[in-house]
Amino acid sequence: MEGDKPTPYALLGGDAGVRALADAFYDHLALDEAFAIVRRLYPATLDESRDKLYWYLSGWLGGPQHYVERHGHPRLRARHLPYPIASAERDAWLACMGLALDDVGAPPELREALMGAFQGTADWMRNRDG
Ligand code: HEM
Repeated sequence: MEGDKPTPYALLGGDAGVRALADAFYDHLALDEAFAIVRRLYPATLDESRDKLYWYLSGWLGGPQHYVERHGHPRLRARHLPYPIASAERDAWLACMGLALDDVGAPPELREALMGAFQGTADWMRNRDG
């Protein structure tokens, strides 16, 4: 039955899997020079950013709505307006997320579906030409 399909949240391993995905994303962002153009937009310490992405992804993937409980509607585009995001930043963010999905061993079909969705969101976040 359609309603019995496991959520992406469950397929990723629930709470621990989503936490691992957010952590893997920020580990790559912090350590890989290829992502310096995105890393420079974030605060010096990434602890809060890690929590926010984990909270957001939890709800977005079909799990508990931690982000909304704490911050209300995500308004992601508005919240990203202070950070100059053009195609290069979008592409670096997506490449970083691709590595994170590999790290947590996301099943291929799920990885493809999530990357497709991230592409749409990341493109919508662009607020500068180029
Ligand atoms: C397109 C390239 C992107 C860049 C360069 C970027 C950059 C940033 C930066 C600099 C912050 C502030 C960090 C902080 O407050 O600790 C942020 C916050 C955030 N980003 Fe992104 N981001 C991008 C795409 C995305 C996408 C695609 C998502 C979701 C799938 C996302 C989710 C979030 C969330 C949930 C926050 C926290 C918002 C808040 O409560 O302030 N970002 N992002």
